[in-house]
Amino acid sequence: MSEDIDFGKVEELAGKVIGDVAGAMSVFMAVLGDKAKLFDLMDGKGPLTLEQLADLSGMNSKYLHEWLGSVSAAGYVTYDPEKETFEVTPEQALVFGREGQPACMQGFFEIILSQFATHEKAAEVFISGEGRPWSDHLPCCFCGTDRFFRPGYAANLVATWIPALEGVEDKLKAGAKIADIGCGHGTSSVLMAQAYPNSKVVGIDFHAPSIEAAKAKAAEAGVDNVEFIVAKAQDYPGDDFDFACIFDALHDMGDPVGAARHIRETLKDDGTFMLVEPMAGDSMADNMHPMGQIFYAASCVVCTPASLAQEVGLGLGAQAGQKRLTEVLNEAGFENVRRAAETPTNMVLEVTG
Ligand SMILES: C[S@@+](CC[C@H](N)C(=O)[O-])C[C@H]1O[C@@H](n2cnc3c(N)ncnc32)[C@H](O)[C@@H]1O
Repeated sequence: MSEDIDFGKVEELAGKVIGDVAGAMSVFMAVLGDKAKLFDLMDGKGPLTLEQLADLSGMNSKYLHEWLGSVSAAGYVTYDPEKETFEVTPEQALVFGREGQPACMQGFFEIILSQFATHEKAAEVFISGEGRPWSDHLPCCFCGTDRFFRPGYAANLVATWIPALEGVEDKLKAGAKIADIGCGHGTSSVLMAQAYPNSKVVGIDFHAPSIEAAKAKAAEAGVDNVEFIVAKAQDYPGDDFDFACIFDALHDMGDPVGAARHIRETLKDDGTFMLVEPMAGDSMADNMHPMGQIFYAASCVVCTPASLAQEVGLGLGAQAGQKRLTEVLNEAGFENVRRAAETPTNMVLEVTG
């Protein structure tokens, strides 16, 4: 079979791939810089020579030379070739350092690296079609997930998402019973416990090490109106909740319909369920952009295998979109689904009825 190859297209694609490979290496370099605390060390110091940075950090200048070359070529650090200096500008500090800022990407990077580190297992289940439990991932995957989502929740949950729901903020201020299902390391539960001291929050997750991390987080924050329990979304204990929420976890569940049904059964009749899911359009064609590229990939190696490892194994995927999520919620018995808020990475659905 003869084939007509357009070498212009080959060149164009290869050029794009070189950019992707450069990005992959840059993510790795950014993680090294984070672990060595170089971005924070350079933040606010102005232009530094290699020797000055070696003195400041106490690190080997041979390594620093190579690292600076790579991150400067990437634009993660600003290089002045005339003066031979390297600077972390305030903008670069916000993206690569300054823990807890919404623009900080280091949590993202940790998740990616954790997947590369266990790529053989990912390939095994990808080929066999079997599930891979959430608990099978490296601890840095859980910490990275929390680190990635935390700044967005800190910036939006209390300030905009809850106020965007019909009548919920007043109830939480007055004192309500809240369930945070699939709470992971408990950031969202602790934020709500702090913001609504009259309310009682129950954080629920089936991953025991995450619940331990959540308890430690609550103790560190000094909040006593939050409790964490190891339980499944489909049958956690308790009832008469005024407010239930799931943050970026419904699509990880094997039985999202069962989970939503249990939420409905354990909510008061006038209760509200807030579902936070990754931002996505309703069809694959809507998601052909960098965020779609990232979320489908994360879903391929983390979310979908986690769902397939559980009972039912629906494998909803991290880019399900509001239409598909609404079908799941309707099947669980909820009648009303409304997009109450959104950010570039998340959609916030108000679910009632
Ligand atoms: C992507 S993490 C999100 C964690 C947290 N909500 C956050 O936003 O940082 C998904 C979480 O869902 C939990 N999870 C998955 N399936 C579950 C189930 N069936 N019951 C309870 N928790 C579940 C996992 O243990 C994990 O902590």
